[in-house]
Amino acid sequence: MTEQLHKPGFETRAIHAGSEPDPTTGAVTPPIFATSTYKQDGVGGLRGGYEYSRSGNPTRAALEECIAALEDGDRGFAFASGLAAEDTLLRSICRPGDHVVIPNDAYGGTYRLFAKVALPWGLEHSAAPVADVDAVRAAIRPGQTKLVWLETPTNPLLNVGDIEAIAAVAHEAGALLVVDNTFASPYLQQPLTLGADVVVHSTTKYCGGHSDVVGGALVVRDHELAEKIGFHQNSIGGVAGPFDSWLVLRGLKTLAVRMERHSDNAEAVVDFLTGHGAVSQVIYPGLEEHPGHAVASKQMKRYGGIVSFRVAGGEQQALDVCAKAEVFTLGESLGGVESLIEHPGRMTHASVAGTDLEVPADLIRLSVGIETAVDLVEDLSRALG
Ligand SMILES: Cc1ncc(COP(=O)(O)O)c(C=O)c1O
Repeated sequence: MTEQLHKPGFETRAIHAGSEPDPTTGAVTPPIFATSTYKQDGVGGLRGGYEYSRSGNPTRAALEECIAALEDGDRGFAFASGLAAEDTLLRSICRPGDHVVIPNDAYGGTYRLFAKVALPWGLEHSAAPVADVDAVRAAIRPGQTKLVWLETPTNPLLNVGDIEAIAAVAHEAGALLVVDNTFASPYLQQPLTLGADVVVHSTTKYCGGHSDVVGGALVVRDHELAEKIGFHQNSIGGVAGPFDSWLVLRGLKTLAVRMERHSDNAEAVVDFLTGHGAVSQVIYPGLEEHPGHAVASKQMKRYGGIVSFRVAGGEQQALDVCAKAEVFTLGESLGGVESLIEHPGRMTHASVAGTDLEVPADLIRLSVGIETAVDLVEDLSRALG
């Protein structure tokens, strides 16, 4: 593209960053480079720096450039899953004996990574509520804490952490702030612009957006940090393959329009659930009574597509609602075009049962898709009886 006077807008970056038409054919979408290796023009004569696809692949590079541009970062790294991205990040920055502060309602798989994989390896952690900056500060062990790990909004309780305030607390203690931006997506929230050092994504979710790929990403601004992550990405090898990279890149192109519709539909669902006799609590950062509403309004463009709610009839009713819903498909994951319903206590968050991170048994999580809003509301109405 010719030089522009202003920085291209989000949608323009989503569609064009990393996706220059192919120089040989003019193909407007980046090809899927299904190749493990590359012909060298004489020993060491690499074309474009590519030598082996764990180290670099043009389709993956296109995705990495695009996601970095959307997060307002300098370097992006694409992985085989969100957890592969998280594991690579931990090993890039932490050593046995270090300490990490994590949310007390972190995604179950993230908690399992810290509790069952990183802890036996020697990386300690403490859990603190993301909405309480003082509690996060108190959980830091000066000198030992290398990372403060934030999810906002959290999964599945949708607690909101103040990225700017927590970045200041982490930096005071010489620690880095990592923000898992999976729930918000870069369209609704850009943590690096608020002081975070690393953004994590499960690109399986809104970035991919069509429930057809599992992937992860890291985005940073700092050059030294990027070098460390790049070294570990190649050394550990949990990279995104070319097909998966292509699917996520295609998803990113429509992220903005999808997030607007996810947010519209979530608001319609929240309106319906609020005041319904069978519902004891609706949890959505867009609600004025949500304790994180003011912070969410400050740092998010809109409030996203995830709605959690509790039912008055306890766990059995929660399970019944999940079973009766039809347009909402019963399934794990989130962030796709189709609406999903799940019971976190028995499904996504079963791995935290019996710990401080256990979620309420009467909780239901909705990933509100982009179908016709009235169909979603009618489906919930039927399922709630
Ligand atoms: C907030 C959050 N972070 C990370 C992950 C892990 O990502 P993946 O399943 O792609 O490994 C998930 C998965 O559900 C998630 O919801």
